[in-house]
Amino acid sequence: METVEWRDGNVRYIDQTKLPHEEIYRETNDYRVLGDAIRSLQIRGAPAIGVAAGWGVLLAAAAALPRSLSGMKQACAEATRVLSVTRPTAVNLFAALERMAVVSNTYPGSDPDELWGLLYREAMNIAGEDREACRKIGEHGASLLGPGSVVLTHCNAGALATAGQGTALGVIATAARQGKIDMVYVDETRPLLQGARLTTWELMKQNIPTVLMTDSSAGIAMQQRAIHAVIVGADRIARNGDTANKVGTYPLAVLASRHGIPFYVAAPVSTIDPGTATGAGIPIEERSGSEVTHIAGHRIAPTGVSVYSPAFDITPNELIAAIVTENGIARSPVSETLAGVLNRSIGYQNDPHH
Ligand code: MRU
Repeated sequence: METVEWRDGNVRYIDQTKLPHEEIYRETNDYRVLGDAIRSLQIRGAPAIGVAAGWGVLLAAAAALPRSLSGMKQACAEATRVLSVTRPTAVNLFAALERMAVVSNTYPGSDPDELWGLLYREAMNIAGEDREACRKIGEHGASLLGPGSVVLTHCNAGALATAGQGTALGVIATAARQGKIDMVYVDETRPLLQGARLTTWELMKQNIPTVLMTDSSAGIAMQQRAIHAVIVGADRIARNGDTANKVGTYPLAVLASRHGIPFYVAAPVSTIDPGTATGAGIPIEERSGSEVTHIAGHRIAPTGVSVYSPAFDITPNELIAAIVTENGIARSPVSETLAGVLNRSIGYQNDPHH
């Protein structure tokens, strides 16, 4: 399954709002449609959003190809503007848009076809690097788990959220292939139920033993069931290691600390934002109250009730035992070790056969 891919001049993606009941693939050559797909979580998960955004700029460049070089650069700038206001927290979106903008803005030549080729290569690199990062995150992260591991995860940080096998779920999948996973507890992840709808679907497809529970069951699960580790993804990691991830992640980290259970974050270095010093500087998306008052389109709360609907929360770095990246593992205290993994390069080479 390709979550999102470039196919014959279109972006093709699985509509995640329809999973697990329907596997519907959509295709568009319009970056505005792609922007709406990101906003509405048809495409979601920080790395997948970044990959899609790169291709969104490419769609705009393709539409402008018959025009002048300045027309193409303008089209890229407009697509960047539209895509940059889709979701505020996942930094991969802005990192990908910045990479495409650098290519477009610094192109010294005068040939639109040549610029198109450079943009194409950059967008493919963003996807290829993410795929490779997921593989390495899986390898590094699996080394943290022993045989018979029971792990707990939140939201969806799997293949659906990346261009590869996922981050947190990539660790779990790699460890499962090594025969180390006994069970994965999956939080349902209100309000939009990414855990119940997407993570269980991915894990069951891989025949990994899976238990679904409500978010509020995590405390008793840690008290009464042997849980060896919590592993989650991230939408943005500040320079000091404070981590934004799906709302409900922070309480899990507090619970894990109380129970002496290691709390791991798995994310590519593209999720680390060197421009943000601490979690306090990470913008937290607030989404429509209807996502809380309704479940699957069915109203469950009184009409007119006020709603607080943050989509993410911040886990302070001191609660994180390790941040697993493609460049290696930053271990506690992550506030001191994160810079080390950020500065290491994995030496990714663009390979058309990826
Ligand atoms: O609102 P979502 O579904 O895009 O939130 C996704 C998450 O919180 C994921 O854990 C995060 O993006 C990491 S995905 C590898």
